[in-house]
Amino acid sequence: MTDETDDSEIKMVVAMVRPDKLGDVKKALAEVGAPSLTVTNVSGRGSQPAKKGQWRGEEYVVDLHQKVKVETVVADIPAEDVVDAIADGAHTGEKGDGKIFVLPVDNAYQVRTGKEGPEAV
Ligand SMILES: Nc1ncnc2c1ncn2[C@@H]1O[C@H](COP(=O)(O)OP(=O)(O)OP(=O)(O)O)[C@@H](O)[C@H]1O
Ligand SMILES: [Mg+2]
Repeated sequence: MTDETDDSEIKMVVAMVRPDKLGDVKKALAEVGAPSLTVTNVSGRGSQPAKKGQWRGEEYVVDLHQKVKVETVVADIPAEDVVDAIADGAHTGEKGDGKIFVLPVDNAYQVRTGKEGPEAV
């Protein structure tokens, strides 16, 4: 392969988890050697149908739930370890615990040093 990024093993692990589990998730990630992360407040829905309710005679629909999106990019540790750590930190056993996705990353660049590829992660 001529394109050096083709065989790169950089992965992004994207997880939507309960906001009150963020602390446990961060701790689990640091313990597995992946302390770098981006956190965003998001709203979303999983597979459960929307819930209808009544409040002061008005009908409302609970469709979207507040979650936290955690993005972690790794090169030197297996994405599976990151997935396990997040799942560990986020788990309660109740519906709505969250979802984890693993994506390939083409390349990475560290702004300060100009480094590129896995060592920039
Ligand atoms: N297929 C999906 N695509 C994009 N986002 C998703 C998907 N599934 C879940 N999410 C995100 O993850 C959050 C949590 O999903 P949730 O844990 O409720 O999934 P679920 O499949 O309904 O599982 P459970 O039965 O445990 O509730 C959602 O609010 C949404 O933000
Ligand atoms: Mg759900």
